[in-house]
Amino acid sequence: MENSATIELKEIDQVIQRYNEHRESLLMILQDICDLYNYLPSQVIPLLADRLGVKESLIYSVATFFKSISLEPQGKYIISVCTGTACHVRGADKVMEAIQDKLHIKEGQTTNDLLFTLQGVRCLGCCASGPVLMVNKEIHGGIDRSRAEELLERYRGEER
Ligand code: FES
Repeated sequence: MENSATIELKEIDQVIQRYNEHRESLLMILQDICDLYNYLPSQVIPLLADRLGVKESLIYSVATFFKSISLEPQGKYIISVCTGTACHVRGADKVMEAIQDKLHIKEGQTTNDLLFTLQGVRCLGCCASGPVLMVNKEIHGGIDRSRAEELLERYRGEER
């Protein structure tokens, strides 16, 4: 399976130009490239290193330090299941299990069609509504197995 994005050098160049090739803007440049492709494709790292005059190892360290930057292809929809204590006691593990079963992936993985990435996160700050999950920036409370499945169908339906 080929999961890597098709890289448009022109788009990468526009991002670099937007920051006047300033190496001090490395983090912003990496974020903008992630916004374009949903992850930081490894093919762009030598190009960035060359254009910004920094070592590739520096780019890798920045990319691995910040959680918002992924070196792996991410799904269009990032599902974050809260595994905090309040959600845990209300059945968050069942929610996680339901999503794993439905999508045939484990926590931390992405579906082959690059639609969904599943991750566990700590408290999302709305414990009274637990179990809670977030899809990109949209929070959903009172989730059980059937609601989780419905939600996945809804997001999948938006792609049809
Ligand atoms: S523990 Fe899940 S929102 Fe707080």
